[in-house]
Amino acid sequence: MRIMFVGDIVGKSGRETLVELLPRLRRKYQPLFTIANGENAAGGRGITPAIAKSFYEAGVQGITLGNHTWDNREVFEFIDEDTKIARPANYPPGTPGVGLRYIKANQTELAIINLMGRTFLPPLDCPFRVVEEMLPQVRQRTPYIFVDFHAEATSEKQAMGWFLDGKVSAVVGTHTHVQTGDARILPKGTAYMTDVGMVGPYDSILGMETEAVLKKFLTQLPVRFEVAGGRTQLNAVIMDLQPQTGKALKIKAIRIDQDNPFED
Ligand SMILES: [Fe+2]
Ligand SMILES: [Fe+2]
Repeated sequence: MRIMFVGDIVGKSGRETLVELLPRLRRKYQPLFTIANGENAAGGRGITPAIAKSFYEAGVQGITLGNHTWDNREVFEFIDEDTKIARPANYPPGTPGVGLRYIKANQTELAIINLMGRTFLPPLDCPFRVVEEMLPQVRQRTPYIFVDFHAEATSEKQAMGWFLDGKVSAVVGTHTHVQTGDARILPKGTAYMTDVGMVGPYDSILGMETEAVLKKFLTQLPVRFEVAGGRTQLNAVIMDLQPQTGKALKIKAIRIDQDNPFED
């Protein structure tokens, strides 16, 4: 059973790149499920119902979020009703939306869990304890469990991978926007990768115009960051899961940009 997960889609550049490349990628790899992180989809900050719809039309079947979940207020219009979108599960109780969604294809159900780290990010509830509490119920329903751990610190992400090894099918990271070269299967059968990387501007700093970010570093003055234009990149990951057990068999990072063209 194959899953494809696409990293943080940043702004218009990211959305256009997704729509352009996803059909080809899905034809080539034939995933049963395609999931994407949409926290930066609306101008780099948040997501709207119209953007979510455009992702579904492009072949995305589930969306995860992160620290930018609430940045576009249109999110409140649909986050409760849209059964394909998950926000970090460790937001405090009472927060709109949910951190766990089930999506279905060909009689197979995939659980999508979104969690957020707490190192260099807002002090949410403990992601480790929150996911530990969720899992018994999820595992009764499906062995196929995908976790997007949206976090900054590599150590926290690796810790989540080892914490959930053998308990979920995959723990892959988002948020840092740079693909890491550590895609692997942990000893008890969980696919792991520290960060999938982003979709959007290639000549940028994490998707934003380089000049503005440089100005910030050089002057410390308040600067408005805008999503960059120009050349683009797409970063994703493909995972194969064993039928019945949901354990990961294979993981492969996908990186498409002008220096790594889509030719493999
Ligand atoms: Fe992001
Ligand atoms: Fe983020």
